Amino acid sequence: MTHARHLPDGFLWGASTAAHQIEGGNTNSDWWEFEHSSIPLIKEPSGDACDSYHRWREDMDLLAGLGFTDYRFSIEWARIEPAPGEFSHAAIAHYRRMVEGARERGLRPMVTLHHFTNPRWFTERGGWAAAGSDELFARFLTAAAPVYATDVAHACTINEPNIVAVMATAQAEILSGKAVSFAENPPAPDGATTEALIRAHARAVETVKSLAPHVSTGWSLANMVCQPLPGAEDVAAAYRHPRLDVFLEAARGDDWLGVQAYTRTLIGPEGRLPVPEDAERTLMGWEYYPQALGHALRHSASVAPGTPLIVTENGIATADDTRRVHYTAGALESLAEAMDDGIDVRGYFHWSALDNYEWGRYAPTFGLIAVDRETFVRTPKPSAAWLGAAGRSRVLPTHA
Ligand code: FCB
Repeated sequence: MTHARHLPDGFLWGASTAAHQIEGGNTNSDWWEFEHSSIPLIKEPSGDACDSYHRWREDMDLLAGLGFTDYRFSIEWARIEPAPGEFSHAAIAHYRRMVEGARERGLRPMVTLHHFTNPRWFTERGGWAAAGSDELFARFLTAAAPVYATDVAHACTINEPNIVAVMATAQAEILSGKAVSFAENPPAPDGATTEALIRAHARAVETVKSLAPHVSTGWSLANMVCQPLPGAEDVAAAYRHPRLDVFLEAARGDDWLGVQAYTRTLIGPEGRLPVPEDAERTLMGWEYYPQALGHALRHSASVAPGTPLIVTENGIATADDTRRVHYTAGALESLAEAMDDGIDVRGYFHWSALDNYEWGRYAPTFGLIAVDRETFVRTPKPSAAWLGAAGRSRVLPTHA
């Protein structure tokens, strides 16, 4: 029996984006460089993306108009610090205008301080694993403080460090000529990168708090929802630990922890299993499995007990918007059940506000809002109105 479930007071209700995936022309980032090398994982370059570096006002007007009360977006290190120690006042002012612009529209900004991309110079000097990376990240956050010093309640230090550590291994494998398949068998995370990211997060929390004590800080983890077949519990735990739990453990005691879930990963006695033959798949090739969100919340709460959770990403790549509504309703149902069981969830951000550059290609459309690839005209899909409306009614949307 479904009953109307009201969002708790202050519950964040928003959509997420990331700078590189929507801004366009991020030419000083390491990703721009990957996109113009001959890596097979890259099907097309990001180019103009959604031109949101110029059209962010339109994006925010739409989200606020749809009913959302929160917007998660990221600032781009490569623009703010184009060369080591050289900071762009113009780029800092740009992101500051975005924070103020969000507030003017009634959107509370959640600012992600690092979402996958690095300045080229940072990657050239060895990326996260190189000595002093935490220091450099803290120096960037100090320079960028005017962006978040006021009007920002939540800052996400690093998006999906557990995937960043996997990408570090992938990069090394690609450079040595190995074929890497993310969908079927993602490489194991790089240990040195993992340690460096945990250090960088602690350092970032300290830095942000020293400059803006009111900002509530956390980081967002990709929760792959490992589900063991009977008898494979230990194999699943061993698989999950370096890929997720070590990062969840590092979030203990943070102000909040970001939960990002899309699908599940089945684990058999020999390890990771492929998506079952008969399962519905999304445009990412992932199993359609809306309940992943509830599982991810429960697992996060069990490893980092007492840390409030915020869903910072959840969504589906599909060309059929009715499947987006169906998926999201299922995910929200699993979220409501977790909350009923006492899991402390403080907000939900859908991935993504816009159809955008999905790290190598545009085909997997995650957006609530479609974007014309030539004119950049934005067209909200029915799912956008359905999900946004809950920001006004404060009632959790259910299956239509
Ligand atoms: C997450 C990323 C985000 C987007 C979604 C689909 O891993 O944080 O940028 O690519 O997946």
